[in-house]
Amino acid sequence: MAENDAPTENNVPSGDNSKPPENENEISIDALAKKVQESLSLSKRHKFWETQPVGQFKDLGDTSLPEGPIEQPTPLSEVKQEPYNLPGPYEWITCDLDSEEVCNEVYALLTNNYVEDDENMFRFNYSKEFLRWALRPPGYFRSWHIGVRVKSSKKLVAFITGIPAKIRVHDAVVLMAEVNFLCVHKKLRSKRLAPVMIKEVTRRVHLENIWQAAYTAGVVLPTPITTCQYWHRSLNPKKLIDVGFSRLGARMTMSRTIKLYKLPEQTATPGFRKMEPHDVPAVTRLLRNYLKQFVVAPDFDENDIEHWLLPKEDVIDSYLVESPETHEITDFCSFYTLPSSILGNQNHSILKAAYSYYNVATKTPLLQLMNDALIVAKKKDYDVFNALDVMQNETFLKELKFGPGDGKLHYYLYNYRLRHVLRPSELGLVLL
Ligand SMILES: CC(C)(COP(=O)(O)OP(=O)(O)OC[C@H]1O[C@@H](n2cnc3c(N)ncnc32)[C@H](O)[C@@H]1OP(=O)(O)O)[C@@H](O)C(=O)NCCC(=O)NCCS
Repeated sequence: MAENDAPTENNVPSGDNSKPPENENEISIDALAKKVQESLSLSKRHKFWETQPVGQFKDLGDTSLPEGPIEQPTPLSEVKQEPYNLPGPYEWITCDLDSEEVCNEVYALLTNNYVEDDENMFRFNYSKEFLRWALRPPGYFRSWHIGVRVKSSKKLVAFITGIPAKIRVHDAVVLMAEVNFLCVHKKLRSKRLAPVMIKEVTRRVHLENIWQAAYTAGVVLPTPITTCQYWHRSLNPKKLIDVGFSRLGARMTMSRTIKLYKLPEQTATPGFRKMEPHDVPAVTRLLRNYLKQFVVAPDFDENDIEHWLLPKEDVIDSYLVESPETHEITDFCSFYTLPSSILGNQNHSILKAAYSYYNVATKTPLLQLMNDALIVAKKKDYDVFNALDVMQNETFLKELKFGPGDGKLHYYLYNYRLRHVLRPSELGLVLL
C-alpha cells in the first residue's frame, strides 16, 4: 500500500520527492515537524494494542528479552469457540470469494473505503482478480476472509483477511497468518470496530493452530520490526504531474521532465522473457537461495512460487533471464498491479501503478534487470513503478530515477519478538 508534497502516513502513492527543494528552510521545518509527530506517537497510549502479545514501546531496546513467541499456544479446546460480540446492528459473515456477488461487494467496500493518502487525492483500487489471487494462495482458509454486514440491509461494512504463510525469522521457519485488507466503512470509523475485527481474525487463526502473524500498516503501532519507505519511478510524468501525484521540479519544464524519464523501447538483457509454468522449479531455487540472506523472509516452495509468481494478466508480472547459451535461469524480476483511484480529477480517474515484488540477480546486474522491468512496465502503460527500500532495492533506486515518497510502511509481527529492529535491507518480505 504506497509521496512528498502530499505527506502520507500510509502507502498509497501520493506523489514523489524527487524534485529539489525550492526552499531549504521550509523543508527542514517540515522534516522537524514530522520527527516531533513521530516521537509523540511513540508515547501515545494504545488501549487495544497494549493488551496484545506484540513488542511494546516500553521494551524497545531491552535485548535481555528472549527472541521468539511472546505467548505459548493454548490447547485448541481452550480457544474461544464463538465469534466475538459485535454491536447489535451487525453480524459476522465468512466471505466466499468464489462467489461473483461477494467478490463485487468486497471490491466495492475497498474501492470506496480502503487506504487513501493523507491529502485524500488517491485511494487504492485493488481489482477483483487481484483480491482473488491475494486471498486464495495454497492452503488458504475461507474462514479467514471475514466480513461484517448490517443485519437489516445486509450491506457489507467491514472486512479483514488472513492467509497462511511460512515465514522464516533468523533460523526459525514459523507458520503465520498474513493479515491484510482491514477496512471499516467511512461512516463507521472511530467506534472501536477495528480491535474487534483484529480479535476475531486472531481467534480464527488460533482455531487453525497458528499463533503468529505478519502485517503492515501506514500507522505506527506497538512496535514495528522495521520501517520502510516507498520510492516512485515516473513512467508517465505528464499524467503524474497533471493529477498532482508529482510536481514539476524547480527549473524543469514539462518537456525536460518527459525526456528525463524516457526509457528505451526494448529491454537490454539477452534472454529476458516472461516466466512460464515450466520455470517454476528454477525460479523456486533462485528465489529460495536469494532470500536466505534476509532476517525475515518467506519460505517459498514450488506451490507458492506457482501461485505468487506465475504471470496473471493485470495482477502479477514476472520476467526472467534464460541464458541464451546454457538455458540456465539466472535472474528474475516481478511486479504486481495495484491501481489507485484518482479522487476528484476531471481528466483522469485511475493511476496505473506497478509495485516491485521479488527480484533476484545472479548474472545480470540488478540495475540492468530493474531497468528492463521499467521498460516492460512502461510498454504496458503503467504510470508509475513503485518499490520499497527492502532487500537490495536501495542499490538501484536512485540510479534508476526513483524518487523517495514520504509515506512510511511499518512491518509488524504478532506474538513474535525480535531482539533488534531491522534495517529495511534486512527484510525479504513484501506484503500486498
Ligand atoms: C484502519 C481502520 C479499519 C481503523 O478503524 P477506525 O474506525 O479508524 O479505528 P477504531 O476506532 O475501530 O480502532 C482504533 C484502534 O485500531 C487500531 N488501528 C488503526 N489502524 C490500524 C491498522 N491499520 N492496523 C492495526 N490496528 C489499527 C488503532 O491503533 C486503535 O487501537 P489502539 O487504541 O490500541 O491504538 C479504518 O480507519 C480504515 O478502514 N481505514 C482505511 C483503510 C486502512 O487504512 N486500512 C488499514 C490498512 S493497513
